[in-house]
Amino acid sequence: MSAEIRRIAVNTGGGDAPGLNAVIRSVVYAADRLGWEIYGIEDGYDGLFRDGGLVRLDKKSVRGITHLGGTILGTTNRGNPLKWPVEKEGGEIELVDRSQEVVDKLGEHGIDALIAIGGDGSLAIAHELAKKGLKVVGVPKTIDNDLAATTLTFGFITAVETATDAIDKLHSTAEAHERVMVVELMGRNAGWIALYAGLAGSADVILIPEIPYEIDFVCDKIRGRYAEGREFAIVVVAEGAYPRGGEPLFKQLGHGQKRLGGIAHILGEQIQEGTGKETRDLVLGHLQRGGGPNAYDRLLALRFGAAAVRLAAEGSFGCMVALDPPNVLAVPLDQAIATTKTVPLDSDVIATARSLGICLGD
Ligand code: F6P
Repeated sequence: MSAEIRRIAVNTGGGDAPGLNAVIRSVVYAADRLGWEIYGIEDGYDGLFRDGGLVRLDKKSVRGITHLGGTILGTTNRGNPLKWPVEKEGGEIELVDRSQEVVDKLGEHGIDALIAIGGDGSLAIAHELAKKGLKVVGVPKTIDNDLAATTLTFGFITAVETATDAIDKLHSTAEAHERVMVVELMGRNAGWIALYAGLAGSADVILIPEIPYEIDFVCDKIRGRYAEGREFAIVVVAEGAYPRGGEPLFKQLGHGQKRLGGIAHILGEQIQEGTGKETRDLVLGHLQRGGGPNAYDRLLALRFGAAAVRLAAEGSFGCMVALDPPNVLAVPLDQAIATTKTVPLDSDVIATARSLGICLGD
């Protein structure tokens, strides 16, 4: 048993990703072997601020969950303890920093260390908590694969598979109706999901935020296909893609909140107008986050969970586990959250798309 750690907590924050439950199971099993007690914080950090939101986890409570999507602990992308919304008199919302309370509450419960599973937002919170003295190990999670310090995040490959299946299905209906189908995929300001799924699914056009597109090139490509007798086309567009000289499209959600989305519809209308071909658009949306992780993501998630416990046992805190093939290693949290990883323009995957004649909009 470690001399310093007796009891740890684990939580999942931000948008869910297939593989979260596999990490939780791995953390619980690995920590249990060291004789530690494990607690799960429900719904990010929210569970700390309500009765019963900190739950004891043992091997029995995490049996049979490796293959399950979602997270048994629940998650939220609103429960940021650094910017906690408090309603003032007159209904005005003030954002309050409750991070010291998080540290204090964990201390009150005798928690010696936290394993925080999350994307850039959650890891930035973990970093702030570490600066306040909390012993934290981060585990990177996002389907977007946009965290710079790790080659891959679990959930990404599963999301690519889901999107590829959808593109495969679009082919038959597109061909039957001789239509252009425009499908919008997730990924925020990175084009990883769109590029990988578009390539794997044999799309004709793939538009990603890293390459602002020219609508004329997109229409030329589609007209060319029809002229060759291939009278349908599949266009994959990342939610963060935008035209040359333009900006990404957001939906306004009220209270100053906004979310990327809607580009497929605009693009579909422009394609129909520019080519005269009947066009339909769809947003694949949260299907990309749903369902269980594939074998690769299960394995990566299990490796990350066990590695996080090893780091805690060694006394290495203020860091995040990361994949640097073939190894899983630790990177400092400040380095982990410093930059977003977008698709490099000199990537061989981009070169592959070009070699296959796929239009990237430039
Ligand atoms: O970061 C993961 C992600 O699914 C993005 O690809 C997407 O833009 C966003 O989360 C959607 O978040 P929400 O859960 O708020 O709809």
